[in-house]
Amino acid sequence: ANYASMSKLKIFVTRSDFPKKSISFLEEKYDVDIWDSIKNGDISKKDFLSRVPGASGIFCSLNDKVDKDVVEAAGPSLKVVSTMSVGVDHVDREALKAKGIRLGYTPDVLTEATAELTLALLLATSRRLFEANRAIKDGEWTSPWAPLWMCGPALKGSTVGIFGFGRIGQSVARKLKAFEVSRILYGSAQEKPEGKQIGAVQVSLEELLRESDFVIVTCALSDRTRGLFNKEKFAQMKSTAIFINSSRGAVVNQEALHDALVSGTIRAAGLDVMTPEPLPKDHPLLGLSNCVVLPHIGSATYQTRMVMADLVAKNIVAALTNEKMPAELAL
Ligand code: DGY
Repeated sequence: ANYASMSKLKIFVTRSDFPKKSISFLEEKYDVDIWDSIKNGDISKKDFLSRVPGASGIFCSLNDKVDKDVVEAAGPSLKVVSTMSVGVDHVDREALKAKGIRLGYTPDVLTEATAELTLALLLATSRRLFEANRAIKDGEWTSPWAPLWMCGPALKGSTVGIFGFGRIGQSVARKLKAFEVSRILYGSAQEKPEGKQIGAVQVSLEELLRESDFVIVTCALSDRTRGLFNKEKFAQMKSTAIFINSSRGAVVNQEALHDALVSGTIRAAGLDVMTPEPLPKDHPLLGLSNCVVLPHIGSATYQTRMVMADLVAKNIVAALTNEKMPAELAL
């Protein structure tokens, strides 16, 4: 290697399909080492550990578990982990903090896209869009129109409960106003000033589950929320309730959800996230007509993904030049 390349800091990038512009931006300044995920598939832990040593920055996604082992393997050069996600449950924050490594993430820029997709799930589930489409393909559309065929519950006049009233939950609430729902309840550790502006009321989880026609989960995954939506919680919901999750699959006990959908404990569910991801194509949830499952596409608009990638790159540069990162998560 020549002197110039030896003096450049190394950035390790965990996949080769991140938007090119953001990678080129980094390549102007750094020695960028990219895992060829197109050729070799998603990076394994073993390959991650063998490729990361000497990196000053890591450009990753929520697929990449950044744990103690990764931090150790990277060594003392590592200054910043920058993830193309707002969720950071795949990152061991304590391990980073212990070594003074900064964490960049992508809040705000994906709020609207994720809220839009949450609304799409709500409508797809309540108005049975996939089931109805499937019925055509299966030859079940036999009368041009039938009074009660493919009916579902209306959003207008309904009570919607949003668990996790951060950026995304609040945006969902704002968008719901256009549908003239009658009440918006939210569950949150603290009362949020935005609640008043939006006209949403903070309630206990118990009340939220009992009162809501639609239960929407937009919280972060933490020790407090892992497995929270279990058998007991589904039993507390109305039998006509529709459950929507666009946060992380692990907040749900999936077997309990499956049972609740099969037994009629609740009416339907719409999931953009689940465990595991990808969900095997023969998974029992996929066989249920009252469950809409999407492959974790909440933030998937072209615009959002470009801005997210851009932010990941900018977070890296800022951290490595000791500047204020545009989106740093305080550890
Ligand atoms: C996130 O950002 O955490 C989403 O899950 C993917 O955009």
